[in-house]
Amino acid sequence: MKDTTLGIGLVGTKFMGKAHSNAWMSAPKFFDLPMHVNMRAVAGTKVQDVAEFAQRWGWQCCTDDWKDLLSDPQVGLIDNCTPNHVHAEVSIAALAAGKHVACEKPLAGTLADARAMRDAAAKAAKKGVRTFVWFNYRRCPAVAFAHQLVKEGKLGRIFHVRASYLQDWGGPSTPLLWRFQGKLAGSGAHGDLNAHIVDMARFITGEEVTEVVGAIEETFVKERDIIESSGGAIAGKGAKRTVRGSRKGKSTVDDAVLFLARMSGGAVASFEATRLATGNQNRNQIEVNGEKGSFKFDFERMNELQWWDHTLPARMRGWSRIMCTDASHPYAGNYWPAAHVLGYEHGFVSQAADTAMVLGKKKPVVAIPDFADAYETQRVLEAAIRCARTRRPVAISEVK
Ligand SMILES: NC(=O)c1ccc[n+]([C@@H]2O[C@H](COP(=O)([O-])OP(=O)(O)OC[C@H]3O[C@@H](n4cnc5c(N)ncnc54)[C@H](O)[C@@H]3O)[C@@H](O)[C@H]2O)c1
Repeated sequence: MKDTTLGIGLVGTKFMGKAHSNAWMSAPKFFDLPMHVNMRAVAGTKVQDVAEFAQRWGWQCCTDDWKDLLSDPQVGLIDNCTPNHVHAEVSIAALAAGKHVACEKPLAGTLADARAMRDAAAKAAKKGVRTFVWFNYRRCPAVAFAHQLVKEGKLGRIFHVRASYLQDWGGPSTPLLWRFQGKLAGSGAHGDLNAHIVDMARFITGEEVTEVVGAIEETFVKERDIIESSGGAIAGKGAKRTVRGSRKGKSTVDDAVLFLARMSGGAVASFEATRLATGNQNRNQIEVNGEKGSFKFDFERMNELQWWDHTLPARMRGWSRIMCTDASHPYAGNYWPAAHVLGYEHGFVSQAADTAMVLGKKKPVVAIPDFADAYETQRVLEAAIRCARTRRPVAISEVK
């Protein structure tokens, strides 16, 4: 019998708002959680929209002011699905109100905001308040499995990490969404996509990035159409342009950032992110090459891990395609029989479940980054930008 309830207060009702609503709804069905999950309240920006959203996704009540969630005693956790510039304000206020916080990635748009969030989390932790960051790709069974293989020593010493996150929706016809406005997003593809692969590289290898030795930052599309409203789709489809093409605004973020780094165990690493890699729609890839073996992961084939066992006799070596859908793979057994594949939403469902596990004093399947952990990823992003702009190597220790 579960005697505790985790009341969720969601902020944001578009792309991630939907993904998280589905996650909180589904987690108790697929996982045996130590707490009841109560989808208590959702906050949006427009009364009519948030009321419709609450009804559709099963939220008990709704508001157009997220501060209402902080005074609701039935809300135990604030789930922050707002654009990057809002992360700090909502999260810090929630922590001060004694609510646990699960915030979307990147931790923040700026290093200063991220640092303030980390510090607020450290203060709240003294009162037992927890923080979580939605680096959802850790919870793809293949990625969590790769992390386990490294931990078990299957790769031996790691020589090389090669990570890239390539999308192609950010061409010239995509309007000036918040994602292209530096004041709102902080950065472009860098904070959006490199944040994920830096987190994945740190998570899988268990190593920290110690230095960025070279980096390049480019904005290809300097101006974009101004629109009346956006949200709900990364490409802004369906958003109304003012008068088509008549008013343009400056894009103040990168379209691509590539960088080279060193890791604490001696490995070298490369990271690439762009939203203008035509033909690559959501190609989040990581390859780790070690002394005893290597693997490759590509989110567009998210159920698979390519594995090379270098301990086999040379005549037996070759790439094998492991379907990470067996009950013995992380998370897979909570869903369907072997080879009944998982999709994008399952990473969020698994993270919601692991969050409830942590708050119910049980072990998550794999670790969820908290604000302090996500701040380490933010330092790497900052070092890469400083390196690109100053054209000199930047040690992570220089980024406080
Ligand atoms: N984990 C992932 O894979 C992933 C994927 C996409 C987005 N994200 C992150 O999730 C966050 C949200 O992105 P999205 O794609 O859902 O954006 P979106 O534009 O689709 O939705 C943003 C929501 O925030 C609300 N909002 C905006 N300003 C607000 C304010 N001041 N107060 C309260 N609500 C406000 C909007 O009304 C909207 O409902 C971003 O930080 C983004 O980087 C993460």
